[in-house]
Amino acid sequence: MENFDWKNMPFGYIKTDYNVRCYYRDGEWGELEITSSEYINLHMAATSLHYGQEAFEGLKAFRGKDGKVRVFRSEANAKRMHDTAEGIRMAPVPVELFKKAVFTAVKLNEKFIPPHGFGASLYIRPLLIGSGAEVGVRPAKEYLFMVFVTPVGPYFKDGFKPIDVMVCRGYDRAAPLGTGRFKVGGNYAASLASLELAHNKGFSTTLYLDPKEKKYIDEAGPANFFGIKNNTYITPESNSILPSITNMCIQQLAKDMGLNVECRQVPIEELSTFEEVGECGTAAVLTPIRKIVDPDTNLIYEYCKDGKPGPVCTRLYNKLIAIQNGDEPDPYGWVDYI
Ligand code: PLP
Ligand code: COI
Repeated sequence: MENFDWKNMPFGYIKTDYNVRCYYRDGEWGELEITSSEYINLHMAATSLHYGQEAFEGLKAFRGKDGKVRVFRSEANAKRMHDTAEGIRMAPVPVELFKKAVFTAVKLNEKFIPPHGFGASLYIRPLLIGSGAEVGVRPAKEYLFMVFVTPVGPYFKDGFKPIDVMVCRGYDRAAPLGTGRFKVGGNYAASLASLELAHNKGFSTTLYLDPKEKKYIDEAGPANFFGIKNNTYITPESNSILPSITNMCIQQLAKDMGLNVECRQVPIEELSTFEEVGECGTAAVLTPIRKIVDPDTNLIYEYCKDGKPGPVCTRLYNKLIAIQNGDEPDPYGWVDYI
């Protein structure tokens, strides 16, 4: 694609040529269908529209220097969508069907995969919705699974540059025993008001605390949170956060670099003890945090005082993107070649 400015890609929707779809009817999944329409024909009483039976995923494909296309961690995303579907009583998409749909969507839109070396990638968005009509609150009998792709740049516009984050006490994105650990649209709807507040005050995103006691760190906008101190990578364990696949990768990389890894409750006061902090996710990749402001306590936690990402964040980030882009081998089996 000659008319894209690959170096300055936004994280947004750009039309590509095809998307793939599959319908669940009469208790079984049908064949994959390929379409170039960006629209879906949906019953007005579909459960996705009324009762939030909706799940999505996010993963990426990268073009290597060797010209090969790599899809990152499709199996893990397939399993997570399976868990989410069960969590809100939707028909789960079999892992193999999920992967086939993802690989087909990538292959059909190959010309939209950004070239190597521009910091851009092809974002893959699988979506599962209740399409069957119901008026009573109950699961649909019919579902639509689809996958579209779109080329993207960094989620936070400056890429690997430290961001400022605001602690959010006035809103929760999920309830203590709610759907926070699933990737359902309702969690994101619940985050919009606090995100607007943070943006209006000049912050890139919000830092959520545990919704039960507001004592522990939960996650950071659309990404998991981590802190680093004493050669240890520390990340919250919580029932109300999304189990980030990027976080799991980074934990593995941290271990292999000789860091200790702790997955546990992280009290908010611990913020003053970290040497580096950051957030991680498919869209956010690994984004260092420069400053965390807690407007309710007037506390400010500062990192990256020279404005640059810290050394551990930098090593982890470089290793992760090297594997994703194929600049370094993938000893973990995280990559599928298309
Ligand atoms: N937390 C939330 C709320 C998210 O939306 C995401 C993005 O998917 C993540 C964490 C990071 O998860 P992953 O690394 O699997 O993309
Ligand atoms: C992702 O990182 O894939 C996400 O889903 C984050 C966001 C754009 C919702």
